[in-house]
Amino acid sequence: MKLLITGGAGFIGSNFIHYWLKKYPEDEILNFDLLTYAGNLENLKDLENNQNYKFVKGDICDSNLVSSLVKDVDLVVHFAAESHVDRSILDPSAFVRTNVLGTQVLLDAVKEYDKRFHHISTDEVFGHLGPDDPSFNEETPYAPRSPYSAAKAASDHLVRAYHITYGIKATISNCSNNYGPYMFPEKLIPLFISNLKEGKKLPVYGDGMQVRDWIHVDDHNRGVDFIIQKGKIGQTYCLGGKDSEVPNIEITKKIIKLMGKDESSIEYVKDRPGHDRRYSIDYSKAKTELGWEPVIDFETGLKSMVDWYLENWDWVERCKSGEYQTYYDEQYGK
Ligand code: NAD
Ligand code: TYD
Repeated sequence: MKLLITGGAGFIGSNFIHYWLKKYPEDEILNFDLLTYAGNLENLKDLENNQNYKFVKGDICDSNLVSSLVKDVDLVVHFAAESHVDRSILDPSAFVRTNVLGTQVLLDAVKEYDKRFHHISTDEVFGHLGPDDPSFNEETPYAPRSPYSAAKAASDHLVRAYHITYGIKATISNCSNNYGPYMFPEKLIPLFISNLKEGKKLPVYGDGMQVRDWIHVDDHNRGVDFIIQKGKIGQTYCLGGKDSEVPNIEITKKIIKLMGKDESSIEYVKDRPGHDRRYSIDYSKAKTELGWEPVIDFETGLKSMVDWYLENWDWVERCKSGEYQTYYDEQYGK
């Protein structure tokens, strides 16, 4: 099989490429990525001499290039996106362009050449929950609340509409918060590991009692594999972590403990505007229909993430050497 992976130089996409080529070494992978601030070819350095791996630099909004690539593959797995909520609050425009327009350009090519398409999405399209609300599932109505989640919701709607209207062979996964190797140091867990290592404060938004469901990136990518192999065309599957609904402040304290530091580094700062309170995932459809469930518990996964980050500190420093500092100063102040 020949796969086109969009956004394969980012966090989840690069882990997916590693996962796939390890499991299916005979398959061919074409990684198509614009290399924005979040794209990093260093994540795939070990594959440079692998004959079944190729990289093409380009924009998913470029319809000619997209057409020429989609034409020659069997399956498109679409990870490319602008993915960070805080950046979407600072400037939503790139989010609408890449997440909405880029997805539509891909869908047109998939329709033209009749290819299988899997769309990677987020649980954030469902909005947020109160402490006692039931978890999100595939029937939960869409109610996005940030420019990021609104743009992802629009892309999900387009995928479903192309399936219904044109019969494209598409599936969608809505997954909770990922963590793991190659995660860019702007999101909660990698930012806090990195700040602690550098002796900086840990900026906890609001009261720190917001809850996320955390899934190790390997569990997510294994779920995507299950959907590709066994998922029903036109269906959506929710993927979530193993017993891993944790308030932010608890995660903060766990990271501090794992790194042998003290809690004086915690700094409560102004809350994120429109901050979603709680995400929670019911993945029973994926479990019943596909036989998938997450296997990495949060304690084990978080420890391995902290270890990976500290062992790969040169990688982290290189991530922070580019545009990162400008973003950091704008978001957190100098
Ligand atoms: P990321 O920001 O780490 O990577 C995104 C990748 O897309 C980068 O390599 C970037 O260069 C590339 N890209 C951006 N714009 C592009 C364009 N116009 N053309 C081609 N490539 C472009 O993101 P991630 O965290 O790996 O997320 C991947 C996907 O998973 C996204 O669709 C995201 O919405 C979804 N998702 C992420 C999480 C999470 O916790 N990170 C959870 C659920 C779903
Ligand atoms: P994040 O990793 O940005 O993921 P998302 O917003 O997509 O869930 O944030 C996870 C949680 O951590 C979210 O409730 C916001 C909070 N947070 C902080 O408290 N401080 C920070 O500096 C960041 C980046 C996030």
